[in-house]
Amino acid sequence: MWSLFLETLSDLSKGTFKGIEFHMPYKEIFKYITLHPHNWLITGVAGFIGSNLLETLLKMNQRVTGLDNFSTGFQHNLDQVKNAVTERQWSSFSFIQGDIRDSDVCRAACDGQDYVLHQAALGSVPRSVADPALTNANNITGHLNMLIASRDTGVKRFIYAASSSTYGDHPDLPKVEEKIGRPLSPYAVTKYVNELYADVFGRTYGTKSIGLRYFNVFGKRQDPCGAYAAVIPLWFSALVKGTPLYINGDGETSRDFCYIDNCVQANILAAVNSRRIDSVNRVYNVAFGERTTLNELFRMIRQRVAVTYPQAARAEPLYRDFRPGDVRHSLADISTARKLIGFNPVFSVSRGLDHAARWYMENLESVTRIS
Ligand SMILES: NC(=O)c1ccc[n+]([C@@H]2O[C@H](COP(=O)([O-])OP(=O)(O)OC[C@H]3O[C@@H](n4cnc5c(N)ncnc54)[C@H](O)[C@@H]3O)[C@@H](O)[C@H]2O)c1
Repeated sequence: MWSLFLETLSDLSKGTFKGIEFHMPYKEIFKYITLHPHNWLITGVAGFIGSNLLETLLKMNQRVTGLDNFSTGFQHNLDQVKNAVTERQWSSFSFIQGDIRDSDVCRAACDGQDYVLHQAALGSVPRSVADPALTNANNITGHLNMLIASRDTGVKRFIYAASSSTYGDHPDLPKVEEKIGRPLSPYAVTKYVNELYADVFGRTYGTKSIGLRYFNVFGKRQDPCGAYAAVIPLWFSALVKGTPLYINGDGETSRDFCYIDNCVQANILAAVNSRRIDSVNRVYNVAFGERTTLNELFRMIRQRVAVTYPQAARAEPLYRDFRPGDVRHSLADISTARKLIGFNPVFSVSRGLDHAARWYMENLESVTRIS
């Protein structure tokens, strides 16, 4: 039954079904999966993206195992998911506290899984500049351990978090998957090596993997604290608290900011909607496909925070030097993901920020206190 469904999905993803032009919306795939529970492993499950994947998969009545060492993830992220799902759905989740640098842990976690969504890594360009060896161990050794474990346990799909940082100094916009430049940071090197390993495993051992090159993902549960916080949660936090808010450079640096629900959709589609032989063992851009400058982003966040905290309306950013390792502009071409896995992001930056703002207004205080 499941394989019949997948074959059908495969036909639908080609754009026709029994000769009829048809596009299978993600909503329909969502419904089908809900009726057919599978086993999923999420590494980095206590982090921002991992916990959002967990919440969606549990709401789809899937059986999920999560692996995390809490290096940058939090128990409170898991607690939030617990509160967002039913007791029955939560009982389908099992958690392993462990480290992907330990190959035995990876093997045990992969055992019996259909799909692996590998998110665990040390993010942040500046962190990798400060400690390249630590980033290397987590992001490359950990990734290799997960690939080996997935190969040895025969998982159906190994979906992993790649990164737009792989485009490095390539000047073209929009970014297309085939054209990359030289990496601009140790972090970017690790994410590119992840892709090389996945590709070699496909050709050498027949592993079926897909790399998702995320472009600045944002949304609920993204950590606003610490030296390596991402810009959106950091600015929500600064505007709420009235603390100084910095823009690195002149503010005309631009990014293709991607709301978390678009990213979750890409992961689920990559796992279950990649039956076409040419849709696996490759990488896809995961973004909305729209460019926003940091100056524009600041104004959008300020406007939303000011609804609850009127004093934020008068806040102005402080401009400082460009940060080493940062790329100037980023914009994704998402046509390959649209064509081969049916990716159809529906959350624009503006719509995503509305959702994120609601979450930060409600949770910022407690999250900041606990972190
Ligand atoms: N957030 C983005 O905009 C973005 C962009 C590009 C790529 N990515 C990639 O997406 C993935 C998830 O990022 P995120 O934003 O959710 O970060 P995050 O820091 O919130 O989540 C990462 C999780 O991995 C866990 N982890 C780290 N090292 C581990 C190890 N050795 N063993 C077990 N668990 C470990 C952390 O504790 C954390 O819970 C990462 O691979 C990151 O490089 C994220």
